[in-house]
Amino acid sequence: MATSTRQEILQQLKELAGPGGYLDERIDIEPYENDFRRLYKGSTPLVLRPDSTERVSRIMKFCFETGTPVVPVGGNTGYCGGATPDESGEQVVLSLARLNKIRGLDPLNYTLTADAGCTLAQVQEAAEKVQRLFPLSMGSEGSCQIGGNLSTNAGGTAVLRYGNTRDLVLGIEAVLPDGSVIENLKGLRKDNTGYDWKNLFIGAEGTLGVVTAAVLKLYPMPRSYGTALVALRDLDASVELLSLLREQSGDSVTTFELIPRLALELTTRHIDGVTDPLGKVYDWYVLLELSCATEESQTQALLELLLGEGFEREIVLDAALASSGAQREAMWRMRESIPEAQSHEGPSIKHDVSVQVRKMPAFVSEATSLVKTLVPGCRVVSYGHLGDGNVHFNLSPAEGDRDPVFLEQAGRVNHAVHELIDQYGGSISAEHGIGRLKREELAVYKSASEIGLMRKIKAALDPSGIMNPGKVI
Ligand code: MLT
Ligand code: ZN
Repeated sequence: MATSTRQEILQQLKELAGPGGYLDERIDIEPYENDFRRLYKGSTPLVLRPDSTERVSRIMKFCFETGTPVVPVGGNTGYCGGATPDESGEQVVLSLARLNKIRGLDPLNYTLTADAGCTLAQVQEAAEKVQRLFPLSMGSEGSCQIGGNLSTNAGGTAVLRYGNTRDLVLGIEAVLPDGSVIENLKGLRKDNTGYDWKNLFIGAEGTLGVVTAAVLKLYPMPRSYGTALVALRDLDASVELLSLLREQSGDSVTTFELIPRLALELTTRHIDGVTDPLGKVYDWYVLLELSCATEESQTQALLELLLGEGFEREIVLDAALASSGAQREAMWRMRESIPEAQSHEGPSIKHDVSVQVRKMPAFVSEATSLVKTLVPGCRVVSYGHLGDGNVHFNLSPAEGDRDPVFLEQAGRVNHAVHELIDQYGGSISAEHGIGRLKREELAVYKSASEIGLMRKIKAALDPSGIMNPGKVI
């Protein structure tokens, strides 16, 4: 932004955003200058909050003409700093929060069209009112927004059954960096007419344009759930149990989440109302869920049968089945509060990595030995979406240790874990994206040809580099 015209540019942007369409007081701007994990503290002179795609378009056109860098933000719940402005004070923030209408809902077409600023919970609830399921689900669903979910290709706890966000989108509307609007909100399941351009914007973390709306896929609402916390013989047993369940349940496993003993202990210690539903102590657990079109009693019977088979095969040691909605919610609460519970134990060194599902036990064992050598005394909490081959391999300091030296080792530990994941043929970012946090690592672990193609796409869509500069690539 040229210094001489800076005030004029900001003034013009405020006018384009319309009445109530911007924040320029320090106290209001401050939350947008920090990312959710407080890894970054940026600076911005202005947060724009337009209430229509037309206004987003006019704002982008003006930013394009004046070379003003723009950082789009949804619910600001991301883990990689992808929606935080840098420290320069030159970047304006573009919040989609006021684009928050459900534009259309068609139970027969099994689609819902939402503005980008609708929260995930708002979309889930709208679908539920017409007995449909929008299956994207995660701990932050009350505040994360659909535009952010698309932009980060969010994963969550039902990927095993329904796929990532990318798999749940039939079409989008987006504003390109030059202000032009591109749209295909037809809601078609088949449209084989050339490049599937929507997928450029899904997972691009706002570096190619601004997603303003999407047509989302809905599913029949399951009639019943079978939920259980299961204690495993060992880590290897997890993959065997998943396979058994998939084979014998007509592939109705929706969730298969790995939980180590320490994670369960931390949630019972720090989160009100969380208890251990099993009497004894085990090393490894999974929270698993079947979702079915059958009656509750049939689903429960199926789950009991399958877990019985697990006992016989000596892969399951113990299990608590949720026999009411309240018990199911309590199990989910335990799982979803693991990150919060871990944060009470001091800072975490985090990894969000994936490998092929069958390699997961070997990876977790080897990575655990590796980090224990690098950071003696650290506590490993490796939990998460085992059914998707995605684990949050997170380290906490030794109990009671508040020495800042722990966190200073993050870079070294991240690199060692990422080297190992690379040897396993895995990915350094399974579901949280790249943002600012993993930009350098991406350049190391993605092939030169892939990075080259990504650069060409970026240059073609955003030739002046105003879209979320410094993120991803
Ligand atoms: C989760 O699965 O709980 C989230 O992705 C958060 C995390 O990585 O800690
Ligand atoms: Zn996760």
